[in-house]
Amino acid sequence: MELAGKRIVLGVTGGIAAYKVCDLVRRLQDEGASVQVVMTRAAQEFVTATTLQALSGQPVFTDQWGAEGAKVGNAMPHIDVSRAADAVVVAPASAHFIAKTAQGLADDLLCTLVLARRCPLLVAPAMNVEMWSNPATQRNVQQLKADGIEILGPGVGDQACGETGAGRMLEPQELLEDIIAFFQPKLLQDKRVLVTAGPTFEPIDPVRGITNLSSGKMGFAMARAAREAGAKVTLIAGPTTLPTPRGVRRLDVRTAREMHDDVMSYVNHAQVYIGVAAVADWRVQPAAQKLKKSLGQPTLVFEPNPDILASVAALPSPPFTVGFAAETDDEVAYARGKLKAKRLSMIVANRAQDILSADDGELTVVDAEGATPLQRASKLTQARRIIAAIAQRLGAD
Ligand code: C5P
Repeated sequence: MELAGKRIVLGVTGGIAAYKVCDLVRRLQDEGASVQVVMTRAAQEFVTATTLQALSGQPVFTDQWGAEGAKVGNAMPHIDVSRAADAVVVAPASAHFIAKTAQGLADDLLCTLVLARRCPLLVAPAMNVEMWSNPATQRNVQQLKADGIEILGPGVGDQACGETGAGRMLEPQELLEDIIAFFQPKLLQDKRVLVTAGPTFEPIDPVRGITNLSSGKMGFAMARAAREAGAKVTLIAGPTTLPTPRGVRRLDVRTAREMHDDVMSYVNHAQVYIGVAAVADWRVQPAAQKLKKSLGQPTLVFEPNPDILASVAALPSPPFTVGFAAETDDEVAYARGKLKAKRLSMIVANRAQDILSADDGELTVVDAEGATPLQRASKLTQARRIIAAIAQRLGAD
């Protein structure tokens, strides 16, 4: 429940993407938000107020006058509807709505309540590619940004009109993730964060290899939490099928050496390095052809892989360097040892049998000051707590 207790006013304007907000309403509610829908007249050409009332469980506002406006006691829905809200989200936001809001016009209920609001406004543009790239729209969007309004998207791709390009409304799941991220404290605003995640895969021959049970979930959660905190995040991932968190730049690698090389070429820009990947300590010289069973038992000769985390920490001016230590026993003591041996800023200890592939876990943050246990929670919640701990220490430096 990422939006528990949040009250969202969802403004819907005229555009074919309006059909997607039916799904968005459900997803917002599934995360614990209550949704009050406000529709423009044009929006009702695409989806009915009855549909959105049924989905949101609340009467939909469409007009400030007459019986509609009288739905609130003082007949002033343009004031009352947004007063209790934590945010107004307008999706889809037409070019016309964006232009009116840039100007501060107030000729319908939605524009008027947007002008009269005290809470944040998030706008998800949806329009034809030419309308989006038109200098007038771009000027208006710049004005909204300058006024502190959050612009969500738009996406790029096929459009309902048959053309292709920028201007698609983000998908409901993308909007949901951006809305959740909006409510997170911006503890690492504009900091550059480099994260590694997942297992590595060390080939034995073209079809076989050595890997481990790391799912990548904790590293991906760290990347997401860092981005939610306002950081610019690069994620270097070993083999995993997990989806890339919103707004995160992802590079896929296979072996420890590939991961090492990518880390070394990106780390100079980073203020924070978080090594979550379960990097293979050893590799073998891979055979060029598939090893044949008929040739008998193969002999594998192991060579050590570079320790990526230790290499980062040993740089002349290292970033704030965070390691993860998965141990089957005595994890905090081992983590303390690694903190010193690898000269890390911080290390997060966990029990391998408890955390690998799981969706939640108990962790301990260990640094020179001591050990702080983090009670069992989802990996995303734990990741947010770790980001807060990193931000606190960065701030104290
Ligand atoms: O020494 P150990 O493998 O237990 O340390 C775990 C930490 O070190 C993790 O943060 C992991 O990402 C990092 N590591 C690394 N390169 C290696 C081995 C581990 O960066 N070759």
